[in-house]
Amino acid sequence: MKKFLMIGSVLGAGLIVACQPAAEKAEAPKAEKKKLSKYEKFKMALAKQDKYQKACSNPKQLVPEGIDIETFKKEMLATVKFPEGGVVGKNIKRGEKLFGDPKRGGKSRRGNCYACHCGDPKIIACGNIGPTLRGYGNKGIDPKDTYIRIYNSWAVQPCSVMPRLGYHGILKPEEIADIVAYMHDPNSPLNK
Ligand code: HEC
Repeated sequence: MKKFLMIGSVLGAGLIVACQPAAEKAEAPKAEKKKLSKYEKFKMALAKQDKYQKACSNPKQLVPEGIDIETFKKEMLATVKFPEGGVVGKNIKRGEKLFGDPKRGGKSRRGNCYACHCGDPKIIACGNIGPTLRGYGNKGIDPKDTYIRIYNSWAVQPCSVMPRLGYHGILKPEEIADIVAYMHDPNSPLNK
């Protein structure tokens, strides 16, 4: 009986000992991994910072530091690549989807214009960080300027919060051209 108990307690203690580190082990790498991946992401973002991002990362914000504004714009404009088929694409439907597919509540993954702009009046969940784009195509704006603004907003407005979608390769030139087509089409819900 004594022997039995002893084996029992040894086994029990063994179990507790075995379980505890296991539980700690299971949690520790998880927390570490989460922290590390955030840090890694942060580090990666910093490493990617180009000279223009650096010029914009200053307490004054929206005013580039260390680069003259006209030079800044000129250099950003020089990065804009134009699609072979011209700045007005043919696939208006794709443009609408990239702008923010209404079927999915306007939340396109890459264009995501509704995060900051309103547009299609049917999409009421829209942002106001940027100006409304309702009726944008009726203003007589040159589609080339629209293309440049989407490709690299900093060619127009240095340090803007609007992402430089073409410059960063988030959208391809042909995809931006389709967004331009959608925005300038008189039948687009934006312009009705
Ligand atoms: C993170 C916010 C943000 C996102 C996302 C964004 N924009 Fe903008 N956009 C702005 C802001 C802010 C402005 C106002 C000018 C400035 O500060 O650059 C602007 C200005 C514009 C203008 C000029 C408007 C005018 O009347 O002159 C156009 C065109 C435009 N955005 C199109 C788009 C399109 C198309 C998308 C999606 C592909 C988009 N934006 C995504 C923030 C954003």
